[in-house]
Amino acid sequence: MSLNPKQINIISVLPKMFAALNYGVLGRALEANLLTISCWDPRGHTANKHRNIDDKPYGGGPGMVMMVEPLRKTLQQIQKQAKKPNWVIYLSPQGQPLHQRHLAALGAKLETHCLTFLCGRYEGIDERVIEGFVDEEYSIGDYVLSGGEFAAMVMIDALARLIPGVLGDPLSAEQDSFCRGLLEYPQYTRPENDQGLQVPQVLLSGDHQAIARWRSEMALKRTVERRPDLLNSAVLTEEEKKTLARLLAAGDTPQSGLD
Ligand SMILES: C[S@@+](CC[C@H](N)C(=O)[O-])C[C@H]1O[C@@H](n2cnc3c(N)ncnc32)[C@H](O)[C@@H]1O
Repeated sequence: MSLNPKQINIISVLPKMFAALNYGVLGRALEANLLTISCWDPRGHTANKHRNIDDKPYGGGPGMVMMVEPLRKTLQQIQKQAKKPNWVIYLSPQGQPLHQRHLAALGAKLETHCLTFLCGRYEGIDERVIEGFVDEEYSIGDYVLSGGEFAAMVMIDALARLIPGVLGDPLSAEQDSFCRGLLEYPQYTRPENDQGLQVPQVLLSGDHQAIARWRSEMALKRTVERRPDLLNSAVLTEEEKKTLARLLAAGDTPQSGLD
């Protein structure tokens, strides 16, 4: 049992959606008290009898906009009860595109802060909430969702993997795609041969250095083929730089194990 669980808050008009967080790696992290997640529904802070949290946009146009007051009061309630300062993240298609490096920074922030994810609905939230209370805005991609809930779940799931103790083997997160700026190498498990498709011989050799070299080369090859843009900011060892130069000079990349 952790004495200092990381604290996450979610502001959403659809708190039941977050039941999905109770499963898998995240569910185990919650059970082990490595992390606490609290959902806050701004409908609890509405001043009108219909408990409306949205209204028509000034200037006209389609849809509705989430009002300032219920969100402000919810944020104030969270701050009052929080044991640490609150860092507020608004999920928005207009936010900065989310990358693994942002998650690493937010993981470090969880040591000293609680994170609050604010989920918009309808046409979004009144701009004065963003100006007055939001510390950062993140987008999970260049497309429009109908609400911030799935985006918050994506961020929280990816963030939880970085909390010490959440993954059985911390090496998993360190070797995952994007952690060092590269895609991960291909993975295989039993059987060695499935209907004629053979696991690369090097992985069966027991030669750990050869396996590490193969994996490094495959990670570079994949990244060159699928996401060459990542190479601009990848942090490579001298050995990897040489391998990359060789792959690029060849204009083609090897298909299987090193000979
Ligand atoms: C229908 S969207 C509003 C879109 C807004 N009218 C716009 O064009 O920027 C409703 C809510 O979904 C969430 N959302 C939609 N797309 C998102 C994305 N790509 N990343 C993160 N959140 C998103 C935001 O919280 C947003 O307030």
